Amino acid sequence: MSDVTLTTLLELKQRGEKITMLTCYDATFAATACAAGVEILLIGDSLGMVLQGHDSTLPVTVADMAYHTAAVKRGNKGALILCDLPFMSAATLEQTYQSCTQLMQAGAHMVKLEGGAWLAESVRLLAERGIPACIHLGLTPQSVNVFGGYKVQGRGEQQAQKMLDDALALEQAGAALLLLECVPSELAARISRAVRIPVIGIGAGADTDGQVLVLHDMLGLSLSGRTPKFVRNFMQGQSSIADAISLYSRSVKDQSFPAAEHEFRA
Ligand code: KIV
Repeated sequence: MSDVTLTTLLELKQRGEKITMLTCYDATFAATACAAGVEILLIGDSLGMVLQGHDSTLPVTVADMAYHTAAVKRGNKGALILCDLPFMSAATLEQTYQSCTQLMQAGAHMVKLEGGAWLAESVRLLAERGIPACIHLGLTPQSVNVFGGYKVQGRGEQQAQKMLDDALALEQAGAALLLLECVPSELAARISRAVRIPVIGIGAGADTDGQVLVLHDMLGLSLSGRTPKFVRNFMQGQSSIADAISLYSRSVKDQSFPAAEHEFRA
């Protein structure tokens, strides 16, 4: 696989080829995911839950993210490396610059921030300084205490219109990528059509420009014993982790994943 860049992602969207993204936290999985054709490796702050055993992503620090980003970079073979800005690491502009410096110097090619149109100024300033931003909309896990749980977002016309307006404002500000989590499929499709930049979905139906899953979820591993509706266990019927990740990548490309059973409706 030749190096994946923002231009590659835009071209994939333009020609209607689905983009594959997977969370990844270390060098061995990075190399395995690259061999399977995964185009974006996300060092998600989900590592707070799946690696560290916390019950939310809130305890994760920038140092944790930088450590895992450096490990992923060492195993990476051409994927684009996207790294989450963890809880409260971008609360002020000064903090945002400091956090991004650490993550980009550790090996990230792009950073991900959770939030809406209020992030437009940060996105613009980061782009001017050479840092592409992905914005995570919908169910943003760092706001679990505001939402009162991990709930589908964007139901009802008012909420849907607000999410669409956020997406358009963030694209206008210079966001390079959007990620929609736990959003009704109709809304995710509407947003994906409305913006020129690629939109990656998780629990957002089949009509986004690409898909992401948490690595442990798609391997059928769960600390809580609960599997979210939008997850498929790709280990089923496979004899190795490498085969399961290849099947994930192929299933995103041939659009057999996600299926109707993985979607939320309005
Ligand atoms: O932290 C993470 O793994 C994420 C995914 C759920 C998209 O943000």
